[in-house]
Amino acid sequence: MKSIPRTLEWIGDLPGHLRLLDQTLLPTDLAYRDCRSVEEVWESIRNLRVRGAPAIGIAAAFGVVLGMQVHTESASCAERLNHICDYLRSSRPTAVNLFWALDRMEKKLLSEPEALAKDRPSSLTLHALTRILLSEAIAIQREDRQMCLAIGRIGAHLIHDGYGVLTHCNAGSLATSEFGTALAVLYSAHDQGKKFHVFADETRPLLQGARLTAWELQQAGIDVTLLCDNMAGQVMREGRVHMVIVGADRIAANGDTANKIGTYSVAVLAKAHGIPFYVAAPSSTFDLSISDGSQIPIEQRDPREITEGFGKVIAPTGVRVYNPAFDVTPAELITGIITEKGLIHPADARIIRTN
Ligand code: MRU
Repeated sequence: MKSIPRTLEWIGDLPGHLRLLDQTLLPTDLAYRDCRSVEEVWESIRNLRVRGAPAIGIAAAFGVVLGMQVHTESASCAERLNHICDYLRSSRPTAVNLFWALDRMEKKLLSEPEALAKDRPSSLTLHALTRILLSEAIAIQREDRQMCLAIGRIGAHLIHDGYGVLTHCNAGSLATSEFGTALAVLYSAHDQGKKFHVFADETRPLLQGARLTAWELQQAGIDVTLLCDNMAGQVMREGRVHMVIVGADRIAANGDTANKIGTYSVAVLAKAHGIPFYVAAPSSTFDLSISDGSQIPIEQRDPREITEGFGKVIAPTGVRVYNPAFDVTPAELITGIITEKGLIHPADARIIRTN
């Protein structure tokens, strides 16, 4: 696979900074954004400069390091950490990887006795503790890469020569540390020499499919056709789609899966046409604390993304708008979930629990 530019990277040591590929500028501009404060990371997550569930989690982990590397006069280490993590938790609500990564960072630091001292830490202690956090953030990023590689390896056998594969939103390299989840399966099949074709839904309103997935697949030399979201049913009816594969933002204990708005409609269409519908996601995307998808918080975004996205007014002033960023696909519409540990098939509570 031809390599896609790095989604995010820690630059330097301590103090250091987080370099993000600014995804709001793709596909026309390939530009990086250097985040030197936790506020800049929060803003980048909120405004989708970095997006995709695993990448959001990794960015937040580095955001914690940025917050902690600044020497302040007040607060104990635990208080500061808690404040920074809560702040980052408020950036976006749906992708559980964000909460998973922040919980992991907190747990790591709070297992250090020095972090529990009630007093303000000396700058030496703070430096040592921040180094532990940096190692943890780097580990989260490294493990994500391994999980994506494994997902690709495990899922590749589902793709056969001559297949048409439809995907929605972007679950690629850009959405993770590298390789992606749904797209990792495609990259892996491509590396094995399989000949298949991808249909990428454009993914209204923010066009992650058009701007990011079509771009990524082109870069990797994979055959791709861009579709408006409302064309998916037609290509299925024409018999050109043999499989759907998407990523996930949060998977409940019973397999109900939140992903980009429009995923549910694609799953219903796939069912109506007898086409297998797969979800690809690492274990960090499972939220076993909730029994089903009704408990997944769905992000509501600015109406202007619909009425004047990308700088052109396309709706009358004052019109009421509904803009949920995600929907939930019920487990019964999902043929299987590809994780780094194997294929969960069928996607049900019993098999998820034992995986
Ligand atoms: O709003 P976004 O662009 O962050 O939404 C991203 C998605 O819905 C992806 O499909 C999901 O996070 C999986 S990424 C491997």
